[in-house]
Amino acid sequence: MVSKTYNIAVVPGDGIGPEVCSAAVETICAAAGRDRFKLTDYPAGAEHFLKTGTALPEETFEACKAADAILHGAAGIPGVVYPDGTEAGIEFGLQLRFRLDLYANVRPIKLHPGVSSPLKDVEPKDIDYIILRENTEGLYASRGGGVSVRGEVATDTVVMTRKGVERIARKAFELARKRNGAPFDGKKRVTVCDKANVLRSYAFFRKVCTEVAADYPDVELDFGYADAMMVHMVRRPSFYDVIVTENMFGDIISDLGAVTVGSMGMSPSAELGDSRGFFQAAHGSAPDIAGQGIANPLGTILASAMMLDWLGERHQDRALVEAAVRIDAAVQQVLSSGQMLPRDLGGQAGTRSVTDAVLHALDGHRVAAA
Ligand code: IPM
Ligand code: MN
Repeated sequence: MVSKTYNIAVVPGDGIGPEVCSAAVETICAAAGRDRFKLTDYPAGAEHFLKTGTALPEETFEACKAADAILHGAAGIPGVVYPDGTEAGIEFGLQLRFRLDLYANVRPIKLHPGVSSPLKDVEPKDIDYIILRENTEGLYASRGGGVSVRGEVATDTVVMTRKGVERIARKAFELARKRNGAPFDGKKRVTVCDKANVLRSYAFFRKVCTEVAADYPDVELDFGYADAMMVHMVRRPSFYDVIVTENMFGDIISDLGAVTVGSMGMSPSAELGDSRGFFQAAHGSAPDIAGQGIANPLGTILASAMMLDWLGERHQDRALVEAAVRIDAAVQQVLSSGQMLPRDLGGQAGTRSVTDAVLHALDGHRVAAA
């Protein structure tokens, strides 16, 4: 049987983006085989905006649309802004979300053995949940559409549709069904994170999620107000299994989640539509450490494993799913050995050394699998 070759649109982007992106590209080639991918680089982001006046060239958009999957480094340079003051460099990811309808942003929050959490008395098995961020509606749907009046008043509007809330809620319950439940009690649980106490839009979000929950009696339905969730995620992270939430809340709580498992540098993100997938770390472009070879590539490497898993499931390609499992195992091995920790996790290892350690561990897993 001839194996499929996947077209991957690679967008290195700004800041540390190119460094962490190339680490992920090396990793997927080593795990699945170089010949499984046709990898093509495309420009987008703040630097491209400075050079050309656009952060997302149409050719890049078209290539992303046509690709089997999209892999992104990071985007944005502070101060590179449109006349309205919003950042230009982040246009790429935001436009992909809206124009390719990547409505489900899956952000696993998992404490790996070998990584210490800033939370007291937590062990790796205690933190293992998914933040499922609605990615096309909510407050950020107003990007570029808010109103500014005479320099006196500015508004952006929270957007919620029944279709949008239903599909993200359904995705949350489907995810929970496939998982092993919350570490605390093994219960499959979906927590709806909102501010239903204050705004109609969030009360609607909660109502529609509750309606969808009726189809999943095997999954517990739980609610948390977004402000209180910031406390619970610190105090009792083991209670969570899948947290589903509105776009901006998802953006905010996923940074907190990431730091509870070591660092923003550890946090992968998969942005999925019904037939398209966009993969990157949840962190930004960290321009302060760009080009020094010290960025933690593990968030992007873990995102690239999510990409292989998603491609493998979609195309019934066992080899790709297995390659994803091997990447996860290699990352776990590197972290638990404690020898090759990047700086944001308290170690000394640079991007190259961490990547080499993952590649080396992958070699071991290939031998073990053979
Ligand atoms: C994220 C990022 C983005 C967001 C930016 C870069 C547009 O913070 O993916 O979490 O705000 O969604
Ligand atoms: Mn964010």
